Amino acid sequence: MESRYCDAKNVFIDSVDVGDYIALDSSDNAYQQLRHSLDKPLKMILLYGSPGTGKSILLNYLYQNSKYQKDIHYFETPTTNEREFFRKIFKVITKKDLPPDTQVNFSTLVDYCREIRGKREIIILLDEAQMYTPDMMERIRLLSDTRSVKFVVTLHKTDKEDLIAKEHFQSRIWEVIQLHNGSRKDIQSFTHKKLLNKNLFEIANTIRSKHIDLIHKLTKGNYRETNKLLFTVFEIYEYYDKNDPSKISHENFSNKIIEMAAIKLGYIHV
Ligand SMILES: Nc1ncnc2c1ncn2[C@@H]1O[C@H](COP(=O)(O)OP(=O)(O)OP(=O)(O)O)[C@@H](O)[C@H]1O
Ligand SMILES: [Mg+2]
Repeated sequence: MESRYCDAKNVFIDSVDVGDYIALDSSDNAYQQLRHSLDKPLKMILLYGSPGTGKSILLNYLYQNSKYQKDIHYFETPTTNEREFFRKIFKVITKKDLPPDTQVNFSTLVDYCREIRGKREIIILLDEAQMYTPDMMERIRLLSDTRSVKFVVTLHKTDKEDLIAKEHFQSRIWEVIQLHNGSRKDIQSFTHKKLLNKNLFEIANTIRSKHIDLIHKLTKGNYRETNKLLFTVFEIYEYYDKNDPSKISHENFSNKIIEMAAIKLGYIHV
């Protein structure tokens, strides 16, 4: 028989599925700012934050909520192949396919954008901008200078990329929206709502304040780390449920098992 903990474990697989979006304080704030920025005169918008703070899911959510009202396009996987990238951009802007094996004439594309200025407002969402070369970023900027195309760009923040951010994104054309790790309250909503969305009420109810305190402390509020930790917690539960059920209680969630998961993941050492 399948353990009841298997479903709970699968809730915390790290994936970006916009149907699972939760309006957490941290993400909702950034979302409102994003919507507001998109309504302002054209500018480049940078969505910035550490890995696992929810940039990709937020960008997806924005796309899903705007795709029927706006001329908006989502570029998920960054292509470092400049030619391919600009062929895709060309298609979105001109609504035409380039013949195979031809290259985009960039200055013609820029002219085209100038011509449609005021007639169309194209929004392009680019995830993982740290993958684009400085040259590509410069061309992206040139396109946005035509005021016909607005880019929303996500960039993950590491020490090295802080530098990139300083060099490229500090100018006036950029509006910066930052995503942060979740507060304790965010981690509580995240944990409970994810379980409740999959109808796992009983398990959700056993996770109480002291457990959330520990989860938040161990993950520092990072959503990806919270996924990893809870996935591992339920993996351990599943194991005991199948092999040694006397070790666990269905009624009381256990900080001890959270600690075991944290040790397994190397968050704490013994
Ligand atoms: N508001 C939210 N609602 C539901 N799940 C979320 C939310 N924010 C983050 N997550 C989940 O947390 C995990 C990390 O989010 P995501 O992949 O969007 O982070 P990221 O900032 O894009 O990270 P990276 O910089 O590594 O690309 C994903 O599994 C995502 O589904
Ligand atoms: Mg991402």
